Amino acid sequence: MRDEKAKILENTLIAADTFRMVLQSSLCEDLKAGQFVNLLVPGFTLRRPISVSSFDKEAEEYTLLYKVLGEGTKKMSEMKAGDTVQVIGPLGNGFPIETAESVLLIGGGAGTGPLVQLAKELKEAGCRKIRVVLGFPTKADIYGVEEFSALGIRTHISTDDGTYGFHGNAVELIRAEGLTAEMAYTCGPKRMMQAVEGLFDRGYISLDIRMACGMGACMGCVVKDKADPDKYYRVCKEGPVFRIGQVDY
Ligand SMILES: Cc1cc2nc3c(=O)[nH]c(=O)nc-3n(C[C@H](O)[C@H](O)[C@H](O)COP(=O)(O)OP(=O)(O)OC[C@H]3O[C@@H](n4cnc5c(N)ncnc54)[C@H](O)[C@@H]3O)c2cc1C
Ligand code: FES
Repeated sequence: MRDEKAKILENTLIAADTFRMVLQSSLCEDLKAGQFVNLLVPGFTLRRPISVSSFDKEAEEYTLLYKVLGEGTKKMSEMKAGDTVQVIGPLGNGFPIETAESVLLIGGGAGTGPLVQLAKELKEAGCRKIRVVLGFPTKADIYGVEEFSALGIRTHISTDDGTYGFHGNAVELIRAEGLTAEMAYTCGPKRMMQAVEGLFDRGYISLDIRMACGMGACMGCVVKDKADPDKYYRVCKEGPVFRIGQVDY
C-alpha cells in the first residue's frame, strides 16, 4: 500500500453525472482486479473510496469510473487533466480469478467499474464464455459497454424505465433471458447483489458500503459472517470482495 501523488491524465464525462478518471502513479504496479484506491479530495478530511476499473501496469495508468453523488465526487469531477491528487492504494482484497467455463458478470450502476479488469483477467485465464449484464436507472446513465466490447464481450443492458434494452432490473433480465453460468461475480446496489446470491451458489460479491478510514483501523465498515455470528469482517480490509453466501449485509 502506498500513499502518493497521482497525476490526472483524463477526467471526462462519459454518462449522466458519471466520469472516467485516468491516473498515473507507481501504486499501479501492485494493483489486482477488484481493489480500490482512496482519494484525498481537497477540502475533505475523509478520503473517497473508488474501485479501480482497469489498469495498464507498463504505463503505470489506472482508470476509475465514478458517479457524482455528493460534494466529494462533485469536487473530483471538477479536477482537470494535469492536476495531481493524493491517493492511497491498492486497498482491499480484490477478486479471485477462478477457472470456469462460463461466467456471468453483473453490475448495477456505479458497480460496473471493477468488472472491466475482472473480465480481462478471466479472459486471459481461459474462461471461454463471459457475459456481462449491466443495470441502470435510465438510458442516459449507461456506461461501460465500450470497455467490454473492446474485450470482445457481449453486454446485456437493462434500464428501470425501459428507455434502453430490457425493461426492468439486471436480475429480472437474467431471469427473462434465461442466462446461466457456472459462476457469477457481482457489484452494485445491495438489493441487486442479494438477488444475485439467490440465483448463484458459486461466485463473488463486491460490497460498496460507507467507509471512514478505508484501511482497517476504525472498524467503521464491519459486516457479519453468515454462518458464525461472532465472526466479523472489515469490508475495507478483508473485503470488499466476499464469497457468495459468506456475509450478512
Ligand atoms: C470499496 C468501494 C468502492 C467504490 N467504488 C466506486 C466506484 O468505482 N465508482 C463510484 O461511482 N463509486 C464508488 N464507490 C462509492 C463512492 O465511494 C461514493 O459514492 C463516494 O464516496 C461519495 O462521496 P461524496 O462526497 O460525493 O458523497 P457524500 O456527500 O459522502 O454522500 C452523498 C450521498 O451518497 C451516499 N453515499 C456515500 N457513500 C456511499 C457509498 N459508499 N455507497 C452508497 N452510497 C453512498 C450518501 O449516503 C449520500 O446519500 C465505492 C465505495 C466503496 C466503499
Ligand atoms: S473503514 Fe475503517 S476499518 Fe474499514
